[in-house]
Amino acid sequence: MRQIKIFDTTLRDGEQSPGCTMNLKEKIEIAKCLEKLKVDVIEAGFAISSPGDFESVNTIAKNIKECEIASLARSTEKDIDAAWEAVKVAENPKIHLFIATSKLHMDYKLRMTEEEVLERIKYMTAYAKKYCSSIEFSAEDATRSELEFLAKATEVAIANGATVVNLPDTVGYSTPDEMKRMISYVLEHAEGAKDIELSVHCHNDLGMATANSLAGVQAGARQIECTINGLGERAGNTALEEVVMAMKTRADSFTDIDCRIDTTQLYRASKTVYNVIGQHAPLNKAIVGQNAFSHESGIHQHGVQANKLTYEIMTPESIGIHVNNIVLGKHSGKHAFQEHIEEMGYQLSEEDLLKSFDAFKALCDKKKNVNDDDITAIILDNTGAEMEVNEDDYRLDWFAVHTSNFTTSTSTVCLRKGDEKFEQVALGDGPVDAAIAAIDKIMNPGEHIFGKFSINSVSEGKDTLGSVSVTLETPNQKFIGRGLSTDVIEASIRAYINAANKMISSDKKAKITAQD
Ligand code: KIV
Ligand code: ZN
Repeated sequence: MRQIKIFDTTLRDGEQSPGCTMNLKEKIEIAKCLEKLKVDVIEAGFAISSPGDFESVNTIAKNIKECEIASLARSTEKDIDAAWEAVKVAENPKIHLFIATSKLHMDYKLRMTEEEVLERIKYMTAYAKKYCSSIEFSAEDATRSELEFLAKATEVAIANGATVVNLPDTVGYSTPDEMKRMISYVLEHAEGAKDIELSVHCHNDLGMATANSLAGVQAGARQIECTINGLGERAGNTALEEVVMAMKTRADSFTDIDCRIDTTQLYRASKTVYNVIGQHAPLNKAIVGQNAFSHESGIHQHGVQANKLTYEIMTPESIGIHVNNIVLGKHSGKHAFQEHIEEMGYQLSEEDLLKSFDAFKALCDKKKNVNDDDITAIILDNTGAEMEVNEDDYRLDWFAVHTSNFTTSTSTVCLRKGDEKFEQVALGDGPVDAAIAAIDKIMNPGEHIFGKFSINSVSEGKDTLGSVSVTLETPNQKFIGRGLSTDVIEASIRAYINAANKMISSDKKAKITAQD
């Protein structure tokens, strides 16, 4: 069996995608999910890029034991120093250094000759190797590099200690044929390439990231770099769930190939990541989209009833979706709830379990059929890092709205902070606008632009839970807030308060650091 390593870069390349900035707690939550998923490597960030990134790489390095923890570094001493400083506490640390090898990048970005780039690879790989035995070298823009030079760069990196050489399709330009040719060429022509791991890292600009990564594996690559939900710059990176399920489902095309991933954790990991970034899977997203396993048309339904294999190439259970859905209700006890969520892949602390169970009971009073999508939303809403409540956060006590389609709306909102209560009333263009104006009078979150506002239904039916996400933008940061309720006005109010609390608490932290 050839083991394909899964290198997850959700927390580094994924986080670079617009609107996907994550705070430390959110990154740790995702890292824990990745550990459960059994990825081989977690690229936790780019340590030199900011003190916040350094802290998150370092905290993940301290807390995650079952995966290698990598930090990215440009090929400079100070980048490598910072990367090592951040990951050295990990049980399995890794330094990932890169430099571009395409003529375009060398001429215009680096302004370096081929000889200078080779010299830099030699020196910097050896420099990193003094710190750490596990070294990955990436030849940025490999797919647009001259093959002969790419093989030479690979050879130099290997000779100086690289244990993995990654050949990225940085701008998502390659095709599966080219990918195969590149991997085969480097394996054939770079001395030592067969003894280390060659890796692929594809971007999805032409929608071929998954196909290209798999073509790389077929040609002999032993590692795929990818992100949950295909998050990443521009059109994103290779989606982890897609390459993994493709290799498992098409074992006939990937003979004697396996990876460590526990596929039953895929759905949960996908939901967690979408939840953190305040987004939802596109309905038709492969593997994790809401329609991925639904068979709407009569012909398909008939076929699936007669024999599942007619239209179903993999089972929802294999990625952790429970089809035997509606088993819990108003009369279910805490024990049954706990058993059910454990089957769904959630292991909660006693405190989180109680919070989630209370929310589940409250929902049962409002909604006739509570299914797994509702339960997932409840768990994420009550346990997710982004929902953590600080002592001096404002919380919703109650609200009232008066609205119609012929007058201005009025909202009254009462918030609590500790033992104090604050009540304000405001007018607005609709009940949500009015409620936000009332909340602003109480919380005064400061200058910001109201960015994305999205409302999604968690499941089906007119009593479905509404999940709202709100993004507040300041010149340097984005704050994503989330709210959940069977009433979308309440969900919107909760989402806004959540985002405003984050904004206020980040502002306080900035002031404390500035004074220190
Ligand atoms: O896309 C890319 O080339 C990268 C490298 C830094 C590995 O992300
Ligand atoms: Zn990349």
